[in-house]
Amino acid sequence: MDTQRSLAGRVAVVTGASRGIGHAVAVALAEAGARVCVTARDPEGVRGSVDALRALGAEATGLAGSVADPAHLREVTERAMDAFGRLDIVVNNAATNQPYGPLMEADPDDWREAFTVNVEAALRLVQYAWRAWMSEHGGAVVNVCTEGAAHVGRNLGAYCTSKAALLHLTQQLAGELGPLVRVNSVSPGLVRTEMARFVWERAGESVAAGLPLGRIGRPEDVASAVRWLVSDEASWVTGTDLLVDGGTRVRAASPGGAAHAVHRPGSYHLPGA
Ligand SMILES: NC(=O)c1ccc[n+]([C@@H]2O[C@H](COP(=O)([O-])OP(=O)(O)OC[C@H]3O[C@@H](n4cnc5c(N)ncnc54)[C@H](OP(=O)(O)O)[C@@H]3O)[C@@H](O)[C@H]2O)c1
Repeated sequence: MDTQRSLAGRVAVVTGASRGIGHAVAVALAEAGARVCVTARDPEGVRGSVDALRALGAEATGLAGSVADPAHLREVTERAMDAFGRLDIVVNNAATNQPYGPLMEADPDDWREAFTVNVEAALRLVQYAWRAWMSEHGGAVVNVCTEGAAHVGRNLGAYCTSKAALLHLTQQLAGELGPLVRVNSVSPGLVRTEMARFVWERAGESVAAGLPLGRIGRPEDVASAVRWLVSDEASWVTGTDLLVDGGTRVRAASPGGAAHAVHRPGSYHLPGA
């Protein structure tokens, strides 16, 4: 199989694709031949992402808006269908890492917003895609979770609880939507993006030294995992979570892991990590 063009003819929507992991995913899918519709809140960011994809020779479109707004998610679906006539792939990547802090101090409205962006939006977009295309023609969904969803950690209650819910939603949808639609997730460890800047700027070297694979992640590391999950190469894979974490989960056995106090469970999974 020619993996370079493994997604030729397919159409993908990627949320939160103006930078970071989402943009790298959009590029990876485009390089594999997909036509891509990108979203983010900042119109400049969306324009920049579409321009970058077109500069690669890809067919691309985009729409600015928040995934917290159901109307935006419906419009994104319509945009992909209008522009390209089909919708085979959905990557739910946009997320918020707020509210940060102890849950006893969390504003319930901010808590609800975290679940709206990180969980409800993913369900809504899949519902729209299902009704518009996937229920008849099939498709593949990837939800971007986090390695940190497996732990509890200081100040991370809303983020990690909502990502744990997204993980569960992934499995539930995988069971409900087969055999036509496969639904999987990727769970990144610490990746060098804006969302996690305050973590890797402060502790990136130390985190890297404790990982079996010796470095923190690049957006492209996650993007290639997503590209594989949505491709036919993964046609018998659904309901799974693919850790892309440089060995974060197994670092306790790594020679560098024990020496770095920052790697104790929960101690560096700050928002975005
Ligand atoms: N970086 C890490 O270490 C790490 C680790 C584990 C998991 N993750 C997950 O990876 C995903 C991508 O994060 P990232 O690190 O790439 O972050 P990032 O570089 O900050 O990018 C976030 C993207 O999402 C968009 N976005 C944010 N809120 C949005 C909203 N309400 N509606 C629509 N778009 C929105 C942003 O653009 P606008 O601001 O213009 O909307 C941007 O395009 C997230 O699901 C995150 O939880 C990241």
